[in-house]
Amino acid sequence: MDRAAIIGTGMYVPARTITNEDLARLMDTSDEWITERSGIKERRWVELDAEGVTVESGAEMGAAAARMAIEDAGIDKDDIDLILYATLSPDVFFPGNGVFIEDLLGLNTAGAMDIRNQCTGFVYALAAADGFIKAGTARTILLIGQEIQSTGLNVTTEGRDLAVLFGDGAGAAIVQASGDERGILASVLHSQGRFARELLGEAPMSNHQGRVTAEILAQGRHYPSMNGQMVFKHATRRFCEAIQEVLNKGGADIGDVDLVIPHQANQRITDAVGARMGLSTDQVFSNIAKYGNTTAASIPLALAEAQREGRLKRGDLLVTVAFGSGFTWGANLIRW
Ligand code: ACO
Repeated sequence: MDRAAIIGTGMYVPARTITNEDLARLMDTSDEWITERSGIKERRWVELDAEGVTVESGAEMGAAAARMAIEDAGIDKDDIDLILYATLSPDVFFPGNGVFIEDLLGLNTAGAMDIRNQCTGFVYALAAADGFIKAGTARTILLIGQEIQSTGLNVTTEGRDLAVLFGDGAGAAIVQASGDERGILASVLHSQGRFARELLGEAPMSNHQGRVTAEILAQGRHYPSMNGQMVFKHATRRFCEAIQEVLNKGGADIGDVDLVIPHQANQRITDAVGARMGLSTDQVFSNIAKYGNTTAASIPLALAEAQREGRLKRGDLLVTVAFGSGFTWGANLIRW
């Protein structure tokens, strides 16, 4: 049976860099607090025009990452027969961003599907791509993880616990049926909806007439909310469990792993997971200092950077792993 191999990667981040010092001018925070609690030094936030409208859309950011991945894979864009688009911040309430990408890239009526799994979105997308390829539903799939988080954050002292963590960006990968050793060897996917309200973005909400009301806006319920300590506790445990479970499923050992690319949630979470799993710092990829937490974009952005930095060589064993809102978590074991 064909394997689903990642044959190209791409990334895009907006040009505007927001440092911790820039945030300290907007709210009561400091570079020291943010660095110590999260490892983040700066993030990219999309530029806004005088009316507060982004100068580029999320789908345009995704398309830029996709063009790089298509070129890296050396394929014709018309080979793409399916788009899987992971985001929690789509450009509009519906349809999903996948169809905007189909149009922006001029693809030939390729299928398009959006994945709503927040920080775990790209891990779910890789598992879905593997399934679609093995079932013969598609042969060449464009995967995108993309977020514009900055326009949805409360950038005052009231919202500082979340505002300092998140950034904007996009990453993409081309996954294609392959007859050789390369490919996704195993995936594990989990969720626990009883914790859905511990990391939540409520509005727009369909159970309210008009979906956003003046009262919801006044209460700030259109901003994300997070129980930070509970997220920290569950994330460190679930990251480790998912890594071990996907290794068991793929018949591999932690000692065989060349690189782990964790969702870039928080450097403290990454460090705790690395220590608990007995991984050295060069076995765990991190770029959170530059981009912050870019949610569904973080794994494909990291994949693209790791590849360009020479951290991934043909034949390497790679684990991608994520935990996020839902709670959802999962991992993929990949032969590069
Ligand atoms: N700057 C300065 N002070 C702040 C900030 C900030 N940005 N945010 C909160 N504080 C203050 C709090 O108000 C509090 O003040 P008080 O003691 O006067 O009440 C103090 O700092 C400590 O707040 P805590 O919430 O207790 O801080 P904690 O040590 O738990 O750290 C943090 C908070 C960083 C969010 C931590 O809980 C954490 O790392 N959680 C993991 C959450 C995470 O990383 N999520 C990522 C997104 S989800 C995902 O991707 C999986």
